[in-house]
Amino acid sequence: MFRIGIGFDIHRLEKGRKLIIGGIEIPSEKGFKAHSDGDIFFHALTDALLGAIGYGDIGQLFPDSFQKWKDADSSIFLREAYRIIKEKGYSIVNIDGYIVLQKPKILPYREKIIKNTAKILNINEEQIFIKGKTYEKIGQIGEGDAGFAEVIVLLKKEK
Ligand code: CDP
Ligand code: ZN
Repeated sequence: MFRIGIGFDIHRLEKGRKLIIGGIEIPSEKGFKAHSDGDIFFHALTDALLGAIGYGDIGQLFPDSFQKWKDADSSIFLREAYRIIKEKGYSIVNIDGYIVLQKPKILPYREKIIKNTAKILNINEEQIFIKGKTYEKIGQIGEGDAGFAEVIVLLKKEK
């Protein structure tokens, strides 16, 4: 049986914060403002995985983590969501996502993000894709004050 899941995440961008996407630090004058490391790709992917099996959402699973774990590595949330879907007998067919960010460009870091995500989930790099897109200078996102991610995932039940 196949199940599809979708996830979205948005955070404000602030000077003096590290920009972390897919666990990779990308050189930038601004980074995502959040209680955790603000990794919009891992947050959206975590929600997509949980949504695919109708389990819940990232805020339900980690209510304290966002408040208590300052600058927490978001791979923690991703690993836990993945553990749950595997426990329910599912595996990942593929992941596709996009990051809307006025700057910097995601493209030069795509390979690194894919490699790191594949390593965390123990799947092949060919099963993951991610791309960047600007917001054509429209509104606050276009001015570089925020960025968002959307991720879709297809799961397959093994048994
Ligand atoms: O050309 P179009 O208006 O469709 O897209 P764009 O937002 O101007 O972005 C052009 C290309 O730049 C994208 O297709 C990506 O390859 C790259 N890009 C990126 O890697 N990272 C971003 N934050 C924005 C764009
Ligand atoms: Zn987030």
